[in-house]
Amino acid sequence: MNPLYKDASQPIDTRLADLLGRMTLAEKVGQMLQLDARGDIDEIVSVQTAGSILHASPETMLKAVDLAANTRLGIPLITADDCIHGHSFWPGATIFPTQLAMACSWNAGLLERAARVTAIEVAATGIHWTFSPVLCISRELRWGRVNETFGEDPYLLGELGAAMIRGYQGKGLSDPTAILATAKHFAGYSETQGGRDASEADISQRKLRSWFLPPFERAVQEGCRTFMLGYQAMDGVPITANKWLLNDVLKGEWGFKGTLVTDWDNVGRMVWEQKVVADYVQAAALAVKAGNDLVMTTPKFFEAAQEAVAQGILDESEIDAAVSRILRLKFELGLFENPRSPSAEVQAQVIGIPEHRELNLEVARKSLVLLRNDGTLPIQTLGAAKKIAIIGPNADDTQAMLGDWAGASGQVDWMPDGHPRETVETVLDGFRSVAPESWSVSYSRGAEIQKLVTHPMGETFPDGQPIPKIFSVPPRDPQMLAQAVAAATNADYAVCVLGDTIELTGEYRSTATLELQGNQIELLDALVATGTPVILVLVQSKPSTLPKSAESAAAIIQAFNPGMRGGRALAELVFGIIEPSGRMPITVPKHVGQQPSFYNRVRGQHGDSYADLTQEPLFVFGEGLSYTTIEYSNLVVSTPNMSMDGEICAKVTLTNTGSRPAIETVQVYVSDLVTSVTWADKELKHHVQVEVQPGQSVEVEICLPASVCSLVNAASQRVVEPGEFELLVGPNSRTADCLSQSFWIS
Ligand code: NOJ
Repeated sequence: MNPLYKDASQPIDTRLADLLGRMTLAEKVGQMLQLDARGDIDEIVSVQTAGSILHASPETMLKAVDLAANTRLGIPLITADDCIHGHSFWPGATIFPTQLAMACSWNAGLLERAARVTAIEVAATGIHWTFSPVLCISRELRWGRVNETFGEDPYLLGELGAAMIRGYQGKGLSDPTAILATAKHFAGYSETQGGRDASEADISQRKLRSWFLPPFERAVQEGCRTFMLGYQAMDGVPITANKWLLNDVLKGEWGFKGTLVTDWDNVGRMVWEQKVVADYVQAAALAVKAGNDLVMTTPKFFEAAQEAVAQGILDESEIDAAVSRILRLKFELGLFENPRSPSAEVQAQVIGIPEHRELNLEVARKSLVLLRNDGTLPIQTLGAAKKIAIIGPNADDTQAMLGDWAGASGQVDWMPDGHPRETVETVLDGFRSVAPESWSVSYSRGAEIQKLVTHPMGETFPDGQPIPKIFSVPPRDPQMLAQAVAAATNADYAVCVLGDTIELTGEYRSTATLELQGNQIELLDALVATGTPVILVLVQSKPSTLPKSAESAAAIIQAFNPGMRGGRALAELVFGIIEPSGRMPITVPKHVGQQPSFYNRVRGQHGDSYADLTQEPLFVFGEGLSYTTIEYSNLVVSTPNMSMDGEICAKVTLTNTGSRPAIETVQVYVSDLVTSVTWADKELKHHVQVEVQPGQSVEVEICLPASVCSLVNAASQRVVEPGEFELLVGPNSRTADCLSQSFWIS
């Protein structure tokens, strides 16, 4: 007879109870394992009965699905990977700009569409779950993972994160093109000390509630089905053992009913890295009791959790609770009926198709931020043919376009050469296809960013796996430099593409400085000195500080890692085929010593400058130019007095005083003038994007619930405190650039 749990007509609770009743303790603990599919897949699926795998190559995925079907109970696998800006490790899949680059668009609708496309491509390959979006706040730019975030502002993070969750999860889990979203890394992981990856976060519960938790709460409200932990400890408690955060806040206060996954070997790290327990048995008990469900890549958890039950330090009912949350997800996805295996046919119909490439181009266009322009841009193409010299180590580098978590970024081993060359348009490719045919486009590398060397630990890990080579400072190459200088001298324009590399980006790869590495500064100095107008393009994982010569560049464009179509988008921007519309989601400091430089710092310090340096950043949060000028006028708050459950309504007029159209991002900040606890001087609460044609005036209406004017008081409660507030409306976060009006909440 068909067991109840296999009968799709039964309610999920009935099926779940039936299945749980049939499982041995070992099978239950097995379900809690999420293991690295690059290991022995027969052992993982058939012996350890792992509930989930990640990093499965296309071949392994097919095998794993079959193996799972042939286990005693035939429980399907749930498969996961980090498809965080496209289907990272599927050759030729659509790779969008990184999350940081996409955040420059400030366009939630666009990100939702990008996530939808990612889900469609990912679902076709048998992956049910992506570890995205990243909701960490980037306040320390030395951290290696800034590229994975939406920048520094909790409101923007919440908006964009919610959009990606909607895109991934589509119409609901029964939709065959839906994949599970993950809100990560819960919570506070980015609050490193000096950028040191996964270091103890100096963060109080009040600080968490003030800025770090709101984007995650928003993710719960959006129906995000899974959460992943960070790595760090806070106030002595490893995140994996943080009962308060996982049970009281996430599941209790916010009512999260989904599934939790630890980060990579978090359970083991409590033994060998954080050293808060002596062995894996205690670590396993601690993790389960704190409310974790899936345990990522700690194979020893299998024996350890069973032993913890045998020793009586963990109750089997606690395992049952976690396993139920995992199995419920599998039932809801309908995996028992249809394991959603890879489909070559669907893959051929959806992966990297022109429609997806077109959307990718649109996202790339909106991700570029024009930061400086002396009027050189857009380059006019009428008149005599001109010469453009494309120069720089990132001008023709495919991996620099894609950034981390894509192709050859190092996390998986089945695409050592990255995505197919023809799927990526570098900056050089972009200029070659977009520049008028009669123009000459030359290329010279000009400088190196790094010289790769063997890791001090040697060439291989103890288990025989290769250790990736690491960054070292490259030798000077006067000949390479001279060629670039000659090319710039002979050209009408020099496009200088600088930035960083994969070896300077990501987990374990925080940087001590924020400077452009290698011989790049010398190159920029030399190009600027030629007198040819230099368009500086920054293709990089995170903001860098810039040398003095950058002040003399004709234009500066922030591109971050702009994805497969980034090169074309960039050339289109330079030639004025599109309008620049991106805005910075993160502050760029003048010097690494200004860290942290995020705009919404808590007020109260002596003075506003260092003795040896200004505290003014190089580029402020929200900054970005158009090819036209937009004037803000007539800010009127129509509700100057309101109660706490009221609405703040205001109007502002935008006038395009230039000759080109604009896509303007109207930024709305609130300042609470007197607060019972120290608080940020202003916080972004809302934004609106409007198109304004040359000569046109547009009135923009703003309506916000008074509840957005809240703060977290000394008792760690989020409240609105009555009193006087200021509404600041403008093109960026600089107070001097905003119009302001008072209002009162009683
Ligand atoms: C570790 C990273 O911190 C996390 O973001 C990622 O999802 C997992 N590895 C899986 O690759």
